[in-house]
Amino acid sequence: MRILLTGADGYIGAILGPKLVERGFDAIGLDTGFYRRGWLFDDRRTRPNVITRDVRQVSVEDLRGFDAVLHLAELSNDPLAAQDPEITFAINHRASVNLARMCRDAKVARFIYASSCSIYGAGSDQKTEESAPQPLTAYAQCKVLVERDVANLRDEHFTPVFLRNATAFGASPRQRFDLVLNNLCGWAWTIGEIRMTSDGTPWRPFVHIEDIADAMICALEAPLDAVAGEALNVGVDSQNYQAREIAEVVAGAFPGCGLTIGDSSGDDRSYRASFAKIRDRLPAFRCRWSVERGAEQFRRLFDEIGFTKEMFHAAPYTRLSELQHLRSTGQLSSNLHWTSSDDERAQMPSRYNGHDLSLSEIAVTGSGQAMEKAGSSNLMPASAAGV
Ligand SMILES: NC(=O)c1ccc[n+]([C@@H]2O[C@H](COP(=O)([O-])OP(=O)(O)OC[C@H]3O[C@@H](n4cnc5c(N)ncnc54)[C@H](O)[C@@H]3O)[C@@H](O)[C@H]2O)c1
Repeated sequence: MRILLTGADGYIGAILGPKLVERGFDAIGLDTGFYRRGWLFDDRRTRPNVITRDVRQVSVEDLRGFDAVLHLAELSNDPLAAQDPEITFAINHRASVNLARMCRDAKVARFIYASSCSIYGAGSDQKTEESAPQPLTAYAQCKVLVERDVANLRDEHFTPVFLRNATAFGASPRQRFDLVLNNLCGWAWTIGEIRMTSDGTPWRPFVHIEDIADAMICALEAPLDAVAGEALNVGVDSQNYQAREIAEVVAGAFPGCGLTIGDSSGDDRSYRASFAKIRDRLPAFRCRWSVERGAEQFRRLFDEIGFTKEMFHAAPYTRLSELQHLRSTGQLSSNLHWTSSDDERAQMPSRYNGHDLSLSEIAVTGSGQAMEKAGSSNLMPASAAGV
């Protein structure tokens, strides 16, 4: 089965790509490479080859011959979208719908879309796929619009599936520290303290990126009538948490870590989700990663790679910072197109958090230390490195 994975060089794509290869799919990635400087550790897994291309520049011809497209390539969180709603709508809504339309025209049978539970926005009830969306941000609005427009493209040859992922956490070579659990683990390790300015009362469902990737593969392999045109929340009922509970879990995983909780709320987004439908439609799927295990994964990883404050605060691991850097240095235009060719970019030294550091140096640092402990870590299956 021939698969195209967009966003292959992203946080989730870097986990899903190797799983597709390991499962025997003929997979190819596509990614414009916004965050390619960031490579926190080398997991030594084999990755699909990645075509450097913006989804806004893909043609129907490019898509012919693929059996399925897994679509992850978007601007992936609320702060990014809030900073530039117009670009967000161009990439996350219009380009995603256009890609789905071209997939249908190219006879791609299945289109699996990485949607988000953030469409539920706020509410005290437990949100099911039938609950009315209440998107509070441009990012969430785009997810709602893509689901609506792509569902309308469904026909007997074209099957869209919408996976509404809970808030992600977990270690990835393309690490992100702009996600709450990951961010708190970074603080716990680098300063030994978690200082929450808010009261941590908002609810959110959480899911590990390994489980998100498994759900995508289950949706790819599921019988047509189980998933055709369906939206599925991705996660597990037991992992609806208030932010302060996540802080407590993280503090517990990092010995000696202090924890202070603030008293303002400041965030209107608060929702819990039900995951009954995914259990029913994708019986092969189950969440293997708890938040406790995720926090423990970070503690071990940080120990193995000698994680530092500089790494924690490096721009490539925080999406907004990296895009701001690429724009302010003229590498990306205001509408997020590269200003130089791929060949020219390949010749340029990588500037990484103020130091000259090539991607291969980052990879070598990660893999050398990681390999020594390969037997004790679930991060490091043995196979060729694939930066
Ligand atoms: N991480 C989460 O908490 C979470 C939760 C729910 C849903 N999702 C969704 O899952 C998907 C992947 O998320 P992620 O966390 O891996 O994000 P990410 O930002 O780490 O990765 C996205 C990748 O897409 C690429 N990309 C962005 N715009 C592109 C374009 N125009 N053309 C080609 N490539 C482009 C980027 O270079 C990046 O490598 C996104 O659609 C996101 O909205 C993520």
